[in-house]
Amino acid sequence: MNRQPIVELRGISKSFKGCSILKDLEFALFPGEAISVCGASGVGKTTLLNIISLLEHPDSGTVLWNGKVVSSKRVKNVCLARCCMFGFVFQNHNLIHELNVLENVLLPLRVRMCLSKKDVNFADLLLKTVGLDRKKYGNIDVLSGGERQRIALARSLIGKPGVILADEPTGNLDETNAYGALNLMMDVCKRNNSSLLLITHNQRLAKLTDKNFVLSNGGLSLQ
Ligand SMILES: Nc1ncnc2c1ncn2[C@@H]1O[C@H](COP(=O)(O)OP(=O)(O)O)[C@@H](O)[C@H]1O
Ligand SMILES: [Mg+2]
Repeated sequence: MNRQPIVELRGISKSFKGCSILKDLEFALFPGEAISVCGASGVGKTTLLNIISLLEHPDSGTVLWNGKVVSSKRVKNVCLARCCMFGFVFQNHNLIHELNVLENVLLPLRVRMCLSKKDVNFADLLLKTVGLDRKKYGNIDVLSGGERQRIALARSLIGKPGVILADEPTGNLDETNAYGALNLMMDVCKRNNSSLLLITHNQRLAKLTDKNFVLSNGGLSLQ
């Protein structure tokens, strides 16, 4: 079967201030696949996600989405394509303070300019699943780190994107909530044939995904 990766990196290198972070890195993520990446702090895990989603450009190498080269600076409309293709759980959440909980969850659909009543119902369901439905009209500034993380999780899933990029999405959660969060992500991914790339330090959670990689010395190796 000729399966095409939804995301592929070929020969990616990236340095910051002369310090080499990623070196000739190769990577492929297939539709419906859930993988985890572990690695020491500062090794380049967030950089890897930023390059996959082109929030950051590589110094050299090629990024492909659905078989199409997108890393050339000549490619247009990358922002909208990114928003349709990826759901993000950022390491620092990146919630919008001016918006309430529900509005934060719905934000990716506002960017895509396609918000329907069905989406609002799905947002309600996601907030219920992460235990925050009673706070949906609340201000995010008063919420705990774990609550913010769960909102970020709901926001990553609302648009049923092709790929969820989750950067230590359970770092602020206790073990029960962490399992709940990962199960929710895997469940939504399975139903939509979405792929999941999970960055985590939790080996037990990592083992729940299809493949486990370690990032070290600028490259990925299968565990
Ligand atoms: N925009 C940047 N400018 C300078 N250095 C950066 C930048 N982004 C990341 N780095 C550095 O690159 C290294 C890898 O960062 P990061 O990808 O965030 O690591 P990880 O997520 O594995 O902890 C770190 O040393 C970090 O300080
Ligand atoms: Mg990081």
